[in-house]
Amino acid sequence: MFEIIRRDGMARIGKFEVHGKVIETPALLPVVNPKINTVPPRELYERFGFGALITNSYIIRGTPELNAKAREIGLHELLDYPGIIMTDSGTFQSHMYGEVDLTNEEIIEFQKAIGTDIGTVLDIFTEPFWTKEQTADSIVTTLERTQQACDMKGEMFLNGVVQGSVYPDLREDCARKMAEMDIDVHPVGGVVPLMEQYRYSELVDVVMSSKRGLNPNRPVHLFGAGHPMILALATLMGCDLFDSASYAKFARDDRMMFIDGTFRLQDMQSLDCNCPACRGRSIDAMKKLDKKERTKAIAEHNLYQIKQEMDLVKRYLREGRLWELAELRCRAHPALLDALRRLGEYQDQMERFDPISRDGAIFYTGPESRNRPVYKRYLDRLGERYVPASDKAVLFEECPGKPYSRPYAEQFAKALKAGYCPIVASPFGPVPAELDEMYPLAQSLFPEYPDMETEEAMEMLTFRFVSKMGFKEVIGPEQIPDVETGSGLDLDMMRAKAVARYQFGLAAADALFRGDVQLVKSKKTGKIRNVISDGEHVLSMRAGDGIYTLKMEGAKRILTATEWPHMRVVMKDDAVPFVAEGRNAFCQFVMCCDPELRPMEEAIVTDKDDNPIATGRMFLAPSEIPMMKKGMAVKVRSGSSDE
Ligand code: GUN
Ligand code: ZN
Repeated sequence: MFEIIRRDGMARIGKFEVHGKVIETPALLPVVNPKINTVPPRELYERFGFGALITNSYIIRGTPELNAKAREIGLHELLDYPGIIMTDSGTFQSHMYGEVDLTNEEIIEFQKAIGTDIGTVLDIFTEPFWTKEQTADSIVTTLERTQQACDMKGEMFLNGVVQGSVYPDLREDCARKMAEMDIDVHPVGGVVPLMEQYRYSELVDVVMSSKRGLNPNRPVHLFGAGHPMILALATLMGCDLFDSASYAKFARDDRMMFIDGTFRLQDMQSLDCNCPACRGRSIDAMKKLDKKERTKAIAEHNLYQIKQEMDLVKRYLREGRLWELAELRCRAHPALLDALRRLGEYQDQMERFDPISRDGAIFYTGPESRNRPVYKRYLDRLGERYVPASDKAVLFEECPGKPYSRPYAEQFAKALKAGYCPIVASPFGPVPAELDEMYPLAQSLFPEYPDMETEEAMEMLTFRFVSKMGFKEVIGPEQIPDVETGSGLDLDMMRAKAVARYQFGLAAADALFRGDVQLVKSKKTGKIRNVISDGEHVLSMRAGDGIYTLKMEGAKRILTATEWPHMRVVMKDDAVPFVAEGRNAFCQFVMCCDPELRPMEEAIVTDKDDNPIATGRMFLAPSEIPMMKKGMAVKVRSGSSDE
């Protein structure tokens, strides 16, 4: 059972339960070679805290003593490991050494017999140099074998491996067929040669196309990915499980893994590592260890590096800052930078999963930052949902103080009084003054020295915006005319409406702002707190991200003013009374929902006759809800029977 606890980008923190044992994902599974015990499994569990490992059933089966012992006492006893054990099937051996001498049926039967927690189909490894026909043919066999394994699996969990070489359409198609089968984990296979050859941008294509077809209710395992430098990017794309054999393989060759690459001990000038395996050791002392001790020390060092990065990835994910970490990590190697740039081509796909708001500030790390979904979403909504309050505008330059109405207080006031809309040219694109407190605009930091790419983009976007919005007059701050009196523009009211349009669309905003509208402001900060329309409290604004939460009265008006399914999450009958009382809306009770909703966005929960029963925030993406067996779809704030 897999449950999503938190998310960022396409990444998720998940709870994965296998036979009563639970691990938190993303997680890395060290590979244990049952014949070479570089770091004993017991130590992996107790000292390093790895709650799951992967070993090879093909090797165990092919080694008579191990085979007999594993059948007799079981795999967990054999390895002396109480955590989750995944086994691979011999596919990787066929990639390395050619055909393997066993059938899918035999290896599935063996994995079951030795008590594997998660077994693997004998899939066919699709090599990156294969033709499309060859790849497509082999996928047919892999799918047949996967179906056969499903029929045989019993209590054992099953890995059904997505193959498809470097062909995105074959990957997606294979993934879609895997999603329909009774498997438990979705590994993406056939990617080791891409990683060995630093073809990371193709890895991005492979993962992103596979993800399109896969079932979000199952963890995705990037088979053979275990170098710390790839973990942030791969997690961002929605990979949940990783495995590393290289920590031990590299150690045997005296190679040490670091976040920025792998280095030969003999080439290293110093050992500037403070992990428990290196602490207190000089480079010479490390070199002088005898071979066996040295291999163990380096293997442990490699494991600590991987573990530390995996933990860091999780911390950034929890803080909603995984994009930042991935962008930093992808500067370790030009091929990774290519991968990051390639990911920019998947902005649309990622945008559907990327949360609408987060707690911390957004840091710009370079022009690639503008590929994040949050940039695209802002521009799309601005273009579709912004209505200028006048046909005259004043253009300002981006500046470090946020919101812009603080550093530009005097100039904005002067412009508004003269009937001009103040607009700041930011790396997000043009920011009208009335949106400047809203996430992500106020919660972002840019360098004071812009790069040329972003500067050009800012100019182009501002130019397009000005012409699209039909401004008749656009001036610089020094040209604002002095006016003695004049009706001027009311920034508070402009702000209140503009944020509502941005969040809910034009028709909904009209309904929310009908009749006599009063804004209740905080005495301390002067910021808008509540919107009262015709005597009814329809909206509240959160101070942190300048985004509205919707009151029941507001929800009712939106349902009347907009067409189904705009902003709706429809519940099945039996859940209606519970959600109306304010309980959260769980996936299995959701009938359908607006596909345009995004995680963390305000949603209106209704019954099947379009009566409002609650308001709340989306927790999942709409496409995930029907696939999830467990967990919350909408975090409900208030139900109709509360009021
Ligand atoms: N290990 C690394 N890549 C693969 C793969 O594609 N399939 C299997 N079964 N194991 C792997
Ligand atoms: Zn170390």
